[in-house]
Parts: sequence; C-alpha cells; structure tokens
Amino acid sequence: MSLNCKDLLGLEHLDKKELQTILDSVKPFKDLFTRSVKKAPTLIGKTVVTLFYEPSTRTRNSFEIAAKRLSADVVNVTVGTSSVVKGESLIDTGKTLEAMKADYIIIRHSLAGAPDILARNLNASIINAGDGFHEHPTQGLLDLYTMYEKKKKFEGLKVLLVGDILHSRVAKSNIWALTKMGAEVAVSGPPTLIPEDIKNLGVKVYYDLDEAVKNADVVNILRIQLERQQENLFPSVHEYVELYQLTKERLGLAKPGVLIMHPGPMNRGIEISSDVADSKNAVINEQVTNGIAVRMAVLYLLKKRKNVSSN
Ligand code: CP
Repeated sequence: MSLNCKDLLGLEHLDKKELQTILDSVKPFKDLFTRSVKKAPTLIGKTVVTLFYEPSTRTRNSFEIAAKRLSADVVNVTVGTSSVVKGESLIDTGKTLEAMKADYIIIRHSLAGAPDILARNLNASIINAGDGFHEHPTQGLLDLYTMYEKKKKFEGLKVLLVGDILHSRVAKSNIWALTKMGAEVAVSGPPTLIPEDIKNLGVKVYYDLDEAVKNADVVNILRIQLERQQENLFPSVHEYVELYQLTKERLGLAKPGVLIMHPGPMNRGIEISSDVADSKNAVINEQVTNGIAVRMAVLYLLKKRKNVSSN
C-alpha cells in the first residue's frame, strides 16, 4: 500500500518487507472467525463504500463482510442504478461519495488506472478491487497468504499460473508479489495469451502444460475469458480444453501435494475439470475464506497509516 500511502492500488510498488507486513497481519483476523462473535471494533464510526463498475461475487461481498467484521458502516453503490448511467464522471462520483464522508472507497473498474485517478483526487483511502488488465492486489495477497499457509515458505516455491496471462490482473498481482517474495514463478498457456516480455519479470514460460505441471508446488488456474475467442486469440474452446484444461490426468503428472488454486469465477469443464476443482488438492474455497481476513488486514493497516499521517 506502499505503507507510506493512504491507498492500496497494486502490488507492483510494494517491497518485500511491506508485503510481509501485510501477510503477517492476517492471522489475528482469521483467528476471529472461530469466535462466536466475529467482530472487532477497529473501524467503528468509519464508512466503507464499495463502487463496482464490473460484476463481482467474491471481491465485493468479501470486502463488505470484512468491513462489517471491523464494525464499519458499509454502503454498496449499485452502478447500474446510480447517476453513473446519467453520465456522471468517475471523479464526480468519487467526490460525491467523499462529501457523504466515505472514509474508504473500494473500486472495481474496467479501466486500468481508474483507482489511481480516484486516489489522486480524493482524501478517502482507495482500494483497487480490480482495474482492467492491470492489478487485483487483494486477490494477489489472498493467493499468497493461502500458499504460505499451506506450503510454509515462499523462497524457492514453484508457482505455475495457467491460462490467459495477457488479460489477467490476477496474474499480474501474483507475479509482482511472488517474485519479490522469492518464489519461482512460471506461466503456461497459448502463445497468443502470454505477453512477449513476461520473461523480463523473471518468469519462466511453458507452452506445454504437461511439462509445466510436473515441476509445480502450486498451480493457480485463471479463468479463460470466453470473449477472447472472438478476438481470435485461441482457435476454439475445444482446443483450449484439449491443451490447457487442468484435468485429473494432468494432475496425476504433478507432485502429490500440489496445491490447486483458482481465483474464481470458475468455468468448470473449460480451464479446470470438475473433479480437479473438487479434489483434495484444491483450496479454492479456502482462498475465499482467507480473502475476508486479508481484506480486514488491509483495511486495518490503511487505518493505522491514516492515523499516523493525521497525528
Ligand atoms: N476473484 C474475483 O475477483 O472474483 P469476483 O469477480 O467474483 O470478485
């Protein structure tokens, strides 16, 4: 969040120590989930607004639950029935919410950089919940937290990201954070869906998924965005399934303890087979649970930072 800053816009500009600080802050919030009263007073009197210009099940609800467990007041702006449809600009919408004393605005937008625009124009803390092809920092953090919880290390951990790397904000946030934490990151997918310069980020590329899964400790499978087929970026769903679906047979090539992750929403039968999604290696629902604790930690750290800067 750069810990010197009021916002969390991405993981690219966080250093290893800052990432570690966030990850170390998660456990106490997760421990709260086992109590009969799952609440802390951290954000009492604060207002958290979710402003989603794109659909979401996990991220928006997870932020709402996280904020409520921290005792904040939560307002969900439904963009489709807001004045956005009358042409109100992003900045004017943000300023309107700030005039209502929003302390945090959680934004998802199809435009890469939209959260940054709000952050520059508002005093409220802005949290990026996914912007275009750019970043999805809290998804990256919850992925890292889940990997560490299960594998107990980042140094030398072999993490494979499979699918549409080119259009994936989840892949970008994973790559920025994992490489800084010392993991060995590889990607696999059709050549048309892997950026040419990805190797410059210290990432290994496999076009053959069978080869790639053999080495992995963690396989994080990305949703294949079916609209990409219209752009001729892969010939057919059938061919994608043939070459890049994580099937039970391919899982059989992997190490026995390989962790199977997916940020959701899943296309069962396309990028992942149902039996793999429901296998004992899969931690997809645990990712969702961890997402709440991670978002609580992010809200808590941003509040702490704001308190320091207002002293
Ligand atoms: N992982 C993720 O961003 O899911 P949603 O689109 O449901 O928020």
